[in-house]
Amino acid sequence: MEEYYWDTQLEYLKRTRDLYYNDDYLEFLVKSVWKISKPVHMIDFGCGFGYLGLKLLPLLPEGSKYTGIDKGQQLINKAKEYFRDFPYETEFFVADTEAIELESKYDVAVCHAFLLHMSKSKSMLQRMVESVVNDGKIICFEPHWISGMSSYEISGYNQSQLVPLGILQKLFEETSRGGKDGNVGVKVPQYLSELGVKNIECRVSDKVNFLHPDKNQQEKEQLFSSLKEEGVGAKPVNKDQFMDSLINCGVTFKQAEQQYEAELLFSQLFNMESSLLYAPNMKITYGEIKRR
Ligand SMILES: C[S@@+](CC[C@H](N)C(=O)[O-])C[C@H]1O[C@@H](n2cnc3c(N)ncnc32)[C@H](O)[C@@H]1O
Repeated sequence: MEEYYWDTQLEYLKRTRDLYYNDDYLEFLVKSVWKISKPVHMIDFGCGFGYLGLKLLPLLPEGSKYTGIDKGQQLINKAKEYFRDFPYETEFFVADTEAIELESKYDVAVCHAFLLHMSKSKSMLQRMVESVVNDGKIICFEPHWISGMSSYEISGYNQSQLVPLGILQKLFEETSRGGKDGNVGVKVPQYLSELGVKNIECRVSDKVNFLHPDKNQQEKEQLFSSLKEEGVGAKPVNKDQFMDSLINCGVTFKQAEQQYEAELLFSQLFNMESSLLYAPNMKITYGEIKRR
């Protein structure tokens, strides 16, 4: 039987999460923005290896509980392994979030880099909302690809040579991913409002990654490897296939060629000694469930 895709992506998930948030920013969100002062039961949709739980549980009031759901058996095994040494109360389910029946009993529903993989992200948000008790919260950390792509700087080059935004903007708006939307992060506030969620606010991830020749060797190696795993400076393979797939998504031959040349140039010049700045610009949307 073919292995479930995300079960093969543990290394990618482990190496890239550190690109998004500084720990002090997450602490600021939990304590000063969401003001979570009593123990909560949190459910994480598409939890993977339990990234959000590992980050948030140490910040939540003692007695908080974490439930993780993911389709990947290997990822859930890993999550259980990671939490084994911690004192937190946790439970994990291998399940399809689109099919699982959930009680409305959680204080907080969260997701991270999950909705962009859903063909019907608003329906999934509805399921998340329904899983939460009255006066509970929903919190979604999701990408806005085009703002991530606009946040690159490589010393010595104009951004337009390496990341031509106009073409990417068109590609990211293309619906050929079966309705899956890499810009979903900026749509979550509106979707939640349509679903009746109150007091909706949206923030942006704080981390700006700076690779620089002066960094110490270990930091440089770690950041470079995370950036490579994220796909930064990936070499485009097979020009014909690359061009065809872009043209099929609605860009012109000339634009597809420009994109190929830009990605090729980026791949050729990006190395561990580059001076590169990159901010993923994740959108963090949160709101409250008020059913009265
Ligand atoms: C990009 S990963 C993010 C994982 C984790 N939230 C993180 O940030 O490390 C997307 C996750 O969503 C899960 N997923 C996608 N569709 C799912 C579904 N229908 N039911 C359960 N999990 C799903 C995948 O298995 C994968 O672990």
